[in-house]
Amino acid sequence: MNDIVEKLQESFGMECILSQHEAAHRPASVWMAGAALHCKALARPKSTEELAEIMRICHAYAQPVVPHGGLTGVAGGAKVSGDEIAITLERLNKIEEIDVTNKTVTVQAGVILQDLQQKVADQGFLFPLDLGAKGSCMIGGNIATNAGGLQALRYGVMRQLVVGLEVVLADGTIISSMNKMMKNNAGYDLKQLFIGSEGTLGIITKAVLRIEDAPQSRNTALVCLASFQDAVQFLHEAKKSLASLLTTYEIIWQDYYQLMTSAPSPYSPPLPQNAPFYVLIEALGQNQEADTALFEGLLESCFDREIITDAALAKSQQELDWFWGIREQVELIFQVHHPVFLFDVSLPINTMESYVEEIKGKLQNRFEQVACYAFGHMGDGNLHLFVSTDENHADTRHQVEEIVLTPLTAIGGSITAEHGVGLEKKMWLHLSRSQEEMALMKTLKTALDPKGILNRGKILE
Ligand code: FAD
Ligand code: LAC
Ligand code: ZN
Repeated sequence: MNDIVEKLQESFGMECILSQHEAAHRPASVWMAGAALHCKALARPKSTEELAEIMRICHAYAQPVVPHGGLTGVAGGAKVSGDEIAITLERLNKIEEIDVTNKTVTVQAGVILQDLQQKVADQGFLFPLDLGAKGSCMIGGNIATNAGGLQALRYGVMRQLVVGLEVVLADGTIISSMNKMMKNNAGYDLKQLFIGSEGTLGIITKAVLRIEDAPQSRNTALVCLASFQDAVQFLHEAKKSLASLLTTYEIIWQDYYQLMTSAPSPYSPPLPQNAPFYVLIEALGQNQEADTALFEGLLESCFDREIITDAALAKSQQELDWFWGIREQVELIFQVHHPVFLFDVSLPINTMESYVEEIKGKLQNRFEQVACYAFGHMGDGNLHLFVSTDENHADTRHQVEEIVLTPLTAIGGSITAEHGVGLEKKMWLHLSRSQEEMALMKTLKTALDPKGILNRGKILE
């Protein structure tokens, strides 16, 4: 047994500090079913103060640590090695306050996103971050990755939803910026440093988040389109007529729609499988009758003008689950393909079609057999590409990444729109950030974590 683990167990008890052996009963990630968590020990603090004390000891021993949320991340940011201590926020799982006047919720970092959504919905509010992993991901992880998701078009990404934050630094210092105000220009806005920093600058323990009034109307449709240009036009028309009600605009290329609506997927196709493109569109509002008339009017008018070629409106909860399942249940791909390399690129909407064609062509030239599915948050300028090849050599991933990520620089895109850099994209960071930007990131990292113990080797080399 190693000195620091013994010291931590003596100080905080065996329930708080699990040994390497005990931790190995847990999964390493929700994506890698079957792979066990392999770390030096797993710390499970139940308060900010306890975490701060753990960090003081780790800092004194120069012990590397890796913060863990729900382990749904897809960039390898929570990967831990045998000489690192994982710190899970799972016991910091209280919703402390729902403030109905200021429309905020104060929440600990280990609260599961779906639990928060449900709790605020019970009080007549909406917490607008939404993503497929909501049943497992935690608020601290959502903040650390600056998660985007399915309603960012209307409500913004996590960065726009956080108004206050509490963080424990590498040396155990507690930084409490639990502000509730929309406006606060008293010096630097420190919370922004930690949002999206993937656990490399501090460990998030608590946050004040913005909530909205619960919507009273929900209109959702899946539509068929004959071309990408029509999808651009339909987005334009939807923005014009639905204005602020437009909440979701998700595009699906034909081959991905076919995959998601054919066996072994549990979903049948709500619309024929031969359209070149599909869009899942949703509007949330406060007036069921007027909003439905507006939404159906948009579909009718776009159908009459041949901008869309077919549409299915979700008329029941069952149909909502069906349509949304086709878009959200991305893990179904693993029933058909393995391994799959996932991408979350950002790029201007007018470059999306040619970009996807270019990389599909390059992948087909390079690999004998390759599947490249495109879909995602078109309204936010963010596409997902899921690539699977017949080859799986040591450098296959690298070759796929090179083909997918390299063209982004010239079109002003980003290698990651929402999943973060973690381990997997750090060697490509230079495609989206200048040398000066990366140097400043290193300066910040050194200032906040001089011993380099917080999520070692993530984001930056
Ligand atoms: P983890 O995976 O545990 O950790 C992610 C990173 O954050 C790691 O670097 C970790 O060290 C760090 N971290 C975790 N907690 C803390 C903390 N308290 N303090 C400091 N650092 C911390 N992402 C999107 O943005 N949009 C989507 O639409 C989306 N859809 C998804 C759908 C599915 C089915 C799945 C499996 C994933 C999806 N993701 C999506 C990715 C993932 O769910 C998000 O990145 C999520 O925010 C990660 O949260 P987590 O709690 O699981 O974090
Ligand atoms: C999604 C994940 C992959 O949007 O980000 O489904
Ligand atoms: Zn996404």
